[in-house]
Amino acid sequence: MTLPYSTSTKNNIQPFESIPGLSSLPILGPIHHFIPGIGSVGLRANFCDLSKVLYEKYGSIVKLDGVFARASMVILYEPEHFDQVYRSEDTLPSRPGFETLLYYRTKLRKSVSNGIYGLTVAEGTQWRDFRTKVNQALLKLKLVKLYAPALEEIAGDMVARLKRLQENDNYLDQHFDLEITKWSLESVAVVGLGTRLGCLDDGLTEDHPARILIKCSQDILELSWKLEFFPSLWKYYPTRNFKKMMNTLDLQWDASVKFIKEAKIKINERGHDILEEDKSVIERLLAIDDNVAIMMANEMLFAGIDTVGYATTCLLYNLAMNQNVQDKLRDDIYLSEQNSRYLRACLKESLRLFAVLPANLRRTTKDHVVGGYHIPKGIDVIAPNEFLSKMEKHYYRANEFLPERWLVEKSDPLYYGNCHPMVTLPFGFGIRSCVGRRIAELEIEIFIKRLLRDVKVTWQGPPVKVVTKVFNSFKKPYCFKFKPVS
Ligand code: HEM
Repeated sequence: MTLPYSTSTKNNIQPFESIPGLSSLPILGPIHHFIPGIGSVGLRANFCDLSKVLYEKYGSIVKLDGVFARASMVILYEPEHFDQVYRSEDTLPSRPGFETLLYYRTKLRKSVSNGIYGLTVAEGTQWRDFRTKVNQALLKLKLVKLYAPALEEIAGDMVARLKRLQENDNYLDQHFDLEITKWSLESVAVVGLGTRLGCLDDGLTEDHPARILIKCSQDILELSWKLEFFPSLWKYYPTRNFKKMMNTLDLQWDASVKFIKEAKIKINERGHDILEEDKSVIERLLAIDDNVAIMMANEMLFAGIDTVGYATTCLLYNLAMNQNVQDKLRDDIYLSEQNSRYLRACLKESLRLFAVLPANLRRTTKDHVVGGYHIPKGIDVIAPNEFLSKMEKHYYRANEFLPERWLVEKSDPLYYGNCHPMVTLPFGFGIRSCVGRRIAELEIEIFIKRLLRDVKVTWQGPPVKVVTKVFNSFKKPYCFKFKPVS
């Protein structure tokens, strides 16, 4: 390999190959290290644990060779290091992932996608064109004014539902995740489509399109985990899981298009004679073009379900485990419905300790020199944010749930600003960061306010265990109890 720098030896730049990390076997790469009981790393339940093991073994720059058709990865544990790479990659950031979805949209169902590949999988100028169009519709709108009343109604329905389900023996222990995703889908649909889907109705059957969307979103994550984080054999022949994934993507597309078409009919019936600032997300998107509207609404109905569901579950868990914080938050809500400062601090703190995505990722589009090593073009640079966010080195009393750290003055050792700003990135980084952030925050804030007003949340069980399958999730059972506030 030739380094791009003629002065490399003089400047003491080490080649990429010399970065410490897991050794590789021909063809199989480092996969043998993960075999339970035999491998040096073994199977880890979640990415945070894996990050810790690799950090303790190899230090702050760790390489994992690519396997089959997958790119090599490097995990950077110093925020200054990935800050350097992410910033200089931020003109047209590349974030690979969901490669089977990419295949589905660009090859298998190319005619259906109409050359529009959405935000989650598009790259390069195609991503930028799409993002520029939807940014305006999603980020520049008066969310609270437009959607707070509908989201409050949904939150009220959900709280009533939880109270009812609580009476049903241990139903919630095994099905809390399903119930919270019914609420998150109902909420994101009211924002994305301007309509209620009926997810919170008692009679929601397995073949209802809303139920299909929830199931598909979970299956897509589960299958992506199997197909993309383990050797990518599907690139050589259509494996059973690959075929299952293509069927699931068909089902998800059909169910979402059904809802989008219904929303479009309703808008046309109502007419377009309303103020620009009162236009809903779907109206703004339809004004751009039908294909963009369909793809963006489809992505919202996928990306807005499990993410918001998990973030809300974690916040409830933290509030249940820290009754003093829950009481303070409830008092705050009673005092002023409008002021959400403490609630926002609770959400930030919860996302610090329990990230939805345990790490961030950028694929290099050029060469970099980081910490004395050469990182060539085409390498996946991982920022292990969840692991870093729990390190005492970065946060004072790092493993405690202390929302105050987001509110105290600079002089306080707890002050969040004492930590490098790249350590905690729950919504990602820069121009490619989460487009649904404000929507997610609004949904969660409204629901928590509504719930805590008359419900006390406790967790009656051992501390939760987190499992990573692309996103993080809780290992069942859920031990929440919801009781009226005395
Ligand atoms: C608490 C809830 C959520 C969390 C923690 C979250 C987190 C993230 C993260 C970490 C990324 C990657 C950003 C990057 O690479 O820099 C992302 C991207 C994205 N998210 Fe979210 N998200 C949430 C909710 C939502 C919602 C409600 C929607 C839809 C309305 C959404 C739609 C998207 C889309 C479309 C992308 C791809 C953006 C792009 O590549 O341009 N997310 N999200």
